[in-house]
Amino acid sequence: MLEAGNLVKRLQEMREGGYLSDAIMREAVKTIAGSDDRYDWVGIYLLNPDEKILWLHNYVGEGTEHARIPVGEGVCGTAVAEGRNQNVADVTEIENYLACSPKTKAELVVLIRAGDEIFGQIDIDSHETGAFTDEDEEAVQAVADKLAEVVMSERR
Ligand code: SME
Repeated sequence: MLEAGNLVKRLQEMREGGYLSDAIMREAVKTIAGSDDRYDWVGIYLLNPDEKILWLHNYVGEGTEHARIPVGEGVCGTAVAEGRNQNVADVTEIENYLACSPKTKAELVVLIRAGDEIFGQIDIDSHETGAFTDEDEEAVQAVADKLAEVVMSERR
């Protein structure tokens, strides 16, 4: 299980130590991926709001063809289009699912956002059907919220 509190604290310390969002997002992905055997692929997609495209910032896991995903497509693009996290227990039931790996059974997408403004998302795939609980979503959301804060702080 992801210890979100510890990770959020470390990300905050990195920020205070002068690290920029690029390094902080890589640290978040690496730590989430290493925290739980059910998390087989972990990545961050960032939203280009002008082109309405999600682009893959960094990931841990197998290579993927889906480095760019239009808003509205797949589980990732749906999360942005609907402005809601997606916890998919069985990806075979999703019509417009974009398969990164044939082994993936479940997917969790948690938005990185400040209010209505969406910056991107943390995407986690699992080889286990029904892998993700509400506790997983809450823990990942805590990390996503810290990342949103970091992204916001770089704008000023
Ligand atoms: N399965 C995602 C695409 C990204 S891969 O999981 C890395 C989707 O349907 O949007």
